[in-house]
Amino acid sequence: MANDDKYPVESDRRRFVKGVVGGAALSGVLTVGAGSVSMATTPSGGGGGLMQYRGAVRESGPAPRGLPQIPVEIDDEGYLMGVWPEPETVEQGGAEVAVARTEIAGFEYSTEWFQYCGLQTFEGIRPDADGQDAYFRYPQAPPTSDYPWMEEIEGGDKIHVDDFADYETWGNDVGDSGVGKPATGTWRSQDVPPEETIPVVILRSTQIEEATQDDEWLSATCPDGFIAYVNKCTHFCCVPGYKRLGESTSYNAENKIYCNCHQSVYDPFTVIQDRFVSLPRPEPEDDE
Ligand code: FES
Repeated sequence: MANDDKYPVESDRRRFVKGVVGGAALSGVLTVGAGSVSMATTPSGGGGGLMQYRGAVRESGPAPRGLPQIPVEIDDEGYLMGVWPEPETVEQGGAEVAVARTEIAGFEYSTEWFQYCGLQTFEGIRPDADGQDAYFRYPQAPPTSDYPWMEEIEGGDKIHVDDFADYETWGNDVGDSGVGKPATGTWRSQDVPPEETIPVVILRSTQIEEATQDDEWLSATCPDGFIAYVNKCTHFCCVPGYKRLGESTSYNAENKIYCNCHQSVYDPFTVIQDRFVSLPRPEPEDDE
């Protein structure tokens, strides 16, 4: 897919989680960063615009920015969901647009974070899309076999906490064991054409559990050590992988998220605050 993210903005990014260590010290940075959000953010509505978001830091490679994070919720039965705020209509630039935004730990989370790389045109990214819920689901076959353990999974099933019971020791033949157990999945992609599937990567890790001890944002968005990201590289929109390709070792990415298209590396255990220009989402009124 061609890169539709034509207006990447490099920013004065701030690290507020640095791997396993430094959470307490950096929580002060988070407070400062969160306080600056309301001043720095330009509301974009359905039309896109400059905004603050949080995501996995881009560690190396040509990607212009980090992978956007999806706050995780777990329902009463143990199924994993990505937070999708109740849609509301706001007036922006003289037009009424639907938005899905909410405040989490003092920071504005918006589903507009995911309006890049063409995702902004997908049905599921519409705040009020019909027939879409917030559950993460396993990919329909193929491929359900990004990791051997997923070969036992029924494509399309909702992703459950119990599927990660061995997260403290899990490993494969890429990188180290015990770093974090991953799954790939889909989000808000029920009954849409395959090319409109929103890919996600979900990890459960003791590193995330530890990081949530000292960080209000992570505590609110990463229950039980789970963290989730939209799995679309911010460079040219390939689907990267966590501990999926042996060649990632050559780029010090064997325990990270690695995009083999042009060797961008993201650290899923380092969440940063960054800025970007959310792309316009076609609204019905745009078609009139
Ligand atoms: S590094 Fe180019 S698409 Fe990911």
